[in-house]
Amino acid sequence: MISEETIHDLIAQAITARGNSYSPYSHYQVGAALLSEDGQVTLGCNIENAAYTPTNCAERTAFFKAVSEGIRSFQAIAVVGSPAGKEITQFAYPCGVCRQVMMEFCNPAEFQIIVAKSQEEYVCLTLDQFLPNGFGPDNLGPFDSQEE
Ligand code: THU
Repeated sequence: MISEETIHDLIAQAITARGNSYSPYSHYQVGAALLSEDGQVTLGCNIENAAYTPTNCAERTAFFKAVSEGIRSFQAIAVVGSPAGKEITQFAYPCGVCRQVMMEFCNPAEFQIIVAKSQEEYVCLTLDQFLPNGFGPDNLGPFDSQEE
């Protein structure tokens, strides 16, 4: 389990990351802070696109940044989201595609997803609570993910 102090710190970093959101179409700004197994934090924001479908969510931005830097083991992610210029008044739960990306790299029984309105008000649940019976690498058999 991660400490309350770590949770507060990750939420603060997710709020900072939200400041870099590129969201001229939805005006919905999302930030994420991803904590690796060895304590590194990788930030992400949503990045939209005029063609709409290339849009990348904040959570996936953080994951893809981390994996591209050689980080593949993770403990937790904090996520915050709200319309531009508005207080964070709702929980921005990760979309289905982001949950599936988490499933690729995280132990669903252990990985903690912290969805926050503030450092004090948050929900912290495991990936398997967000994505029960998820399909992951183990379903495909004994591939060695380190090889590729
Ligand atoms: N978004 C995220 O960044 N994360 C989610 O889990 C849900 C949605 C973004 C995508 C898009 O830029 C905006 O929020 C509105 O859907």
